[in-house]
Amino acid sequence: MILKQLKITNFRNYKSLNIDLSNKINIIYGQNAQGKTNILESIYVLGLTKSHRSFIDEDLIKSGELSAKILGNIEKDSIISTFEIILNRKKKQYKIDNDDIKRTSDYISNMNIIIFYPEDLDLIKGSPNIRRKYLNLELSQLYNNYYRVLNDYNKLLKIRNEYLKRIQKNIQIDKNYFDIITEYLIDKATFIYRARNKFINKINNYASNIYKEIMKLDNFYLRYKTNFEFKDYSEIEIKEQLKAKFNSEINNEIKLGNTLYGPHRDEFEFYLDNNNLKSYGSQGQQRLAVITIKLAEIEIFKKHSKTSPILLLDDVFSELDDEKKNNLLKYIKDDIQTIITTTDLKNIDEKIIKHAKLFKVESGTIVEIKEEVK
Ligand SMILES: Nc1ncnc2c1ncn2[C@@H]1O[C@H](COP(=O)(O)OP(=O)(O)OP(=O)(O)O)[C@@H](O)[C@H]1O
Ligand SMILES: [Mg+2]
Repeated sequence: MILKQLKITNFRNYKSLNIDLSNKINIIYGQNAQGKTNILESIYVLGLTKSHRSFIDEDLIKSGELSAKILGNIEKDSIISTFEIILNRKKKQYKIDNDDIKRTSDYISNMNIIIFYPEDLDLIKGSPNIRRKYLNLELSQLYNNYYRVLNDYNKLLKIRNEYLKRIQKNIQIDKNYFDIITEYLIDKATFIYRARNKFINKINNYASNIYKEIMKLDNFYLRYKTNFEFKDYSEIEIKEQLKAKFNSEINNEIKLGNTLYGPHRDEFEFYLDNNNLKSYGSQGQQRLAVITIKLAEIEIFKKHSKTSPILLLDDVFSELDDEKKNNLLKYIKDDIQTIITTTDLKNIDEKIIKHAKLFKVESGTIVEIKEEVK
């Protein structure tokens, strides 16, 4: 998948921007606070409808303007489609080839984007919530029914929790309805557990080799942690364990007014040999661990959707020593479109610069630089 052309209007500090991108490596460079990340963010929003760094869509609209627009021409299997997002202060509109797309899930499964940005280190250091969000986002891009099931799960969970609180307060409830909700919840939970387990296994198929190539260390892997000890993640096994748990724990759940078991309590950990990188790893080891799982995802996306995702790397070089930087660049092969931001071209191998398309950003304007004079 290639983003051929990007046009943005009134997005962040850009009044308007129109660039043609290379299908290989693109480097966006410039000083701090000029608008490098904003460009990556616009591509991310174009693909996933939400920003990776702001919950509030209004932040994305240029100050003093009422709406922003991002448009991208995407080539996939030799067909070019136009993706478009229009952000107004109150609502968002998605279009593919000028057709309005009503459901977010129908839109976001069309574009595959993988991003690495500095705050991604929170994937290791931060709370389990961040890791669950990551799983959900990636799985929504891979399978368009995941997002729907997850939404259903969250709705059912909310209803079930309300019921538990009512029972706790001795308010009369419809027991049959409560049982049906629990049964549906188990159904959706089973789907989510299986999808997450499959995804983590897939990451692990590639991650150890990638980590070794870049970091020169063996035995890197992710460990999926659930409330349960599932042996084979079969539907029957998961359903049986969940049912048994809900039966045995019902009094505790009523006491706390909360559903205590399920994928909303999931977690995963980063390991190197038998060491948890959260407490054991150096900054560089942690950073490369996160980059590694993103690179492993590229392989998963390639296999799954038969097309390479678009790779966005925000400020990735400033944190790595020269050897690791070059190992990483060597790993990013020519068959994936990559858009990298950096403050300094000196960080980057000359050979790469020669073959890359260079863009210089200065306070919300961008120019393509044909040949960088050093
Ligand atoms: N809604 C907005 N309207 C106008 N300007 C905005 C808006 N949101 C952010 N900006 C401006 O965008 C600039 C930051 O852009 P960006 O984060 O892309 O910088 P950067 O080039 O990536 O910098 P760094 O190298 O520090 O990461 C800031 O000057 C900020 O004031
Ligand atoms: Mg930035």
